[in-house]
Formats: sequence, C-alpha cells, structure tokens
Amino acid sequence: MKVDPKRITYLNAPAPCVLVSTVDHQGRKNVAAYGYYTTVDQFEVPSVMFGARAFQHTSKNIESTKEFVVGVPPSTLAKKVWKTGYKNEKCDDEFKECELTPIPSETIKPFRIKECSINLECTLLFHFVVGKHVWFVGKVNLAEIDKELYSEDNIEMRSNIDALYHISKEYFCGRNETIKVEPY
Ligand SMILES: Cc1cc2nc3c(=O)[nH]c(=O)nc-3n(C[C@H](O)[C@H](O)[C@H](O)COP(=O)(O)O)c2cc1C
Repeated sequence: MKVDPKRITYLNAPAPCVLVSTVDHQGRKNVAAYGYYTTVDQFEVPSVMFGARAFQHTSKNIESTKEFVVGVPPSTLAKKVWKTGYKNEKCDDEFKECELTPIPSETIKPFRIKECSINLECTLLFHFVVGKHVWFVGKVNLAEIDKELYSEDNIEMRSNIDALYHISKEYFCGRNETIKVEPY
C-alpha cells in the first residue's frame, strides 16, 4: 500500500521531544519544545542536533551565543512542554512563564531544566538549513541524568528513562515498555 511521503512523521515511531534552553545576548532565559531532535555521534564528538525555524527565539539565541541545553522531559511534563511550544512572544523569563525551574549549567550560560530527567550542555559545532528548519548540531560538553535513573549498565539506564514522544499537535505518548528480542 502506498502512502503519501508527506505523512513521513506519522510513519516513523515518534522521536522523543526535548526542551531546548537558551539565553539571548542580554542573558534572558528562553525555553521551547522541539520534536525534530536526534543524537548524531557517540564516539568522536558526542553530539546532538535539532531543527528549529529561523525566526524562533531559540534559533536567534543560538546564532548569537553558540550555546544551548537540551532537556529530556519525562512524560509527566507533557502539559508544560506543550505550553513552551505556544509561548511565542518574547518575555523576560520564559521559565517562569512556563513554570519550569532553571538550574545554572557548569559549562555554558543557558540554564538546565530541573524538571527534565536528563540535561545536555551543548556548544554549537555548526548549523545548516533543510527546508524551513535550521539544524543546529551541538557538541555535548556535559551530560547529567537524575540519580535514580543512573546505572553503570547502558541497557538498564536506557530502560529507566521515561521520555515524552510527540505525535502531532496536542498528541503525545510516553514509553511504556522495553522489548527484549532473542539474539540470532
Ligand atoms: C511538542 C512540540 C514539538 C515542537 N517541535 C518543533 C520542532 O521540531 N521545530 C520547530 O521549529 N518548532 C517546534 N515546535 C514549536 C516551537 O516549540 C514553538 O514555535 C516555540 O514557541 C518556539 O519558541 P521560541 O520562539 O521561544 O524559540 C514544537 C512545539 C511543540 C509543543
């Protein structure tokens, strides 16, 4: 059965959506939701990338400061994540506006997000444009995870993480099971 390629975002399992925290040149905090997000490299330069439209405050802030924090929200944060995506006008403190708690980062100026179970402090490596989105690729300087989710074992740690997946508009889903297959 053929399906319209424009429905591609509904053909993939949804990617986890993240919150991206930035500051402008005056140090004003900004936070917004992003669904176009992925890790890029794990070995040479641990890095992540996400796509934002050029007019958004997030894009302008990163172009000016070259820094951002990626926060991975648990599924219980859906309502606030949704709010950050619809708070477009510039305000002095978008964290306050969206009832999120900023925590100072160790390596960059943008703030971590306390309500997120994982925070990645990133420095911009480069950016490029695809269609309407500017893709920002950032080197992860520092990664932090909630203590209770941490494990020395990668599979166990990944299984501990509850992420939020964006389907469309106000539709999200959480992760509810880990599936183990038998090796060949
Ligand atoms: C769950 C969710 C996912 C989103 N994903 C993206 C995305 O991948 N790219 C994008 O440009 N905007 C995305 N948005 C919209 C931005 O979050 C929204 O335009 C936001 O107001 C931008 O904020 P800013 O101008 O403060 O940067 C998403 C919104 C929501 C609620």
